[in-house]
Amino acid sequence: MILESLFNKKVELTELRKDFTVLSRQINNKPIVYFDNACMSLRPKRVLEVMEEYYNKFPGCAGRSNHTISNEVGKAVDESREKIAKFFGADKHSIIFTKNCTEAINLIANAFPFKSGDLVLTTDKEHNSNLLPWLRLEKKWEIKHDWVESGVKNEFSMDNFIKKITEYKGKVKLVSIVHTSNIDGVTNPVKDIARVAHRHGAKVLLDCAQSAQHQEINIKKLGVDFIAVSSHKLLGPNGVGALISTKENLEQLNMFLVGGETVKDSTIVDFVPEDLPERFEAGLQNYPGIIGFAAAVEYLEKVGIRNIHKHVVKLNEIASKGLSTLKGITILGPKDAEKRSGILSFVIKGKNVHEVSLLLNNMHNIMVRSGAHCVHSWFNKEENKKSLFKEGTIRASFGFYNTEEEVEKFVNAVKEISEL
Ligand SMILES: Cc1ncc(COP(=O)(O)O)c(C=O)c1O
Repeated sequence: MILESLFNKKVELTELRKDFTVLSRQINNKPIVYFDNACMSLRPKRVLEVMEEYYNKFPGCAGRSNHTISNEVGKAVDESREKIAKFFGADKHSIIFTKNCTEAINLIANAFPFKSGDLVLTTDKEHNSNLLPWLRLEKKWEIKHDWVESGVKNEFSMDNFIKKITEYKGKVKLVSIVHTSNIDGVTNPVKDIARVAHRHGAKVLLDCAQSAQHQEINIKKLGVDFIAVSSHKLLGPNGVGALISTKENLEQLNMFLVGGETVKDSTIVDFVPEDLPERFEAGLQNYPGIIGFAAAVEYLEKVGIRNIHKHVVKLNEIASKGLSTLKGITILGPKDAEKRSGILSFVIKGKNVHEVSLLLNNMHNIMVRSGAHCVHSWFNKEENKKSLFKEGTIRASFGFYNTEEEVEKFVNAVKEISEL
């Protein structure tokens, strides 16, 4: 199988797979099939190498001490910041490193200059990470939260959105939405949403946890104000994520986590805030994580985001077609796999979703996820509680290192389990 890179070089999938050590692992003498990429992607060797290099060669703290090791890590972090920012179409002073996507959204929830009575609008299909921060603020009576009901086929309804934002007459200050849903893989029409939101005076925060794996995410081209991502979903290490924006937007935020490095100076009664982006990066940072994140971005560029997208959609098409020939299978979301990017969420009539995922694992080393995927609010809607999806779904999510053979194995395994 060959992937055509953006730079028109042929990239052999079998060669690429060798970069991911865990893919050669066998459990009970059988290879593993990793289809849990929406939860966490695997890391290529290069990411691990650069992180090890940090610990072996320059394990210092950046920007604090003035010695060789500290200067080396400072330079590596600075270069990494520039690389990652560029990948998302931002400048290097407009990226704030966080622990993950959740922390990036919480940063906005805590730092956005909301006034009492302001409103945050989400969709009805948000991950808890883009719902709970707003519910918490609402419980503190600081803001109001409302949502846009999905339209037909559970897709984003532009009509419902326009109606709602118009009715609120300028009170909506932030539209905070998921880019690609982690339950059905559907991507929201962000450019149009941003245009409408801006017309009504609202900023837009985009949760790109899922989309950044296999879509070009360029903050300028998408026309949004803030982007939240996690490194561990795009081949990078755990424990690092980012909030990406513009200088103008970040300058308007209040400070959130404060402490070492977030101030230029302090007295016993006051302090002078640091410049961007350090103002928002309190305490000693995850330097190996940031360096590993940059190596992951470099690797993604080498393979080519368009290639990745094409490949995971192709795998999803094969898998969806295979499952649709089986009895008792219902897929969540549009029939057309292309609209679900790398995600295939489904149920088998009469089978418990957790049992199915356990059987896939125990019988065939096929690793998927089951349940509500942290989108409980959607599964808890009255109509969904009465539907086939009341227990959640079994979710297979594909990565570019997955193969058609693995998909075939998966379809056969689902068939076997459905007939048990
Ligand atoms: C759509 C979406 N948003 C947010 C998150 C939260 O990401 P993290 O746990 O990396 O902070 C996830 C994680 O699965 C997700 O799928």
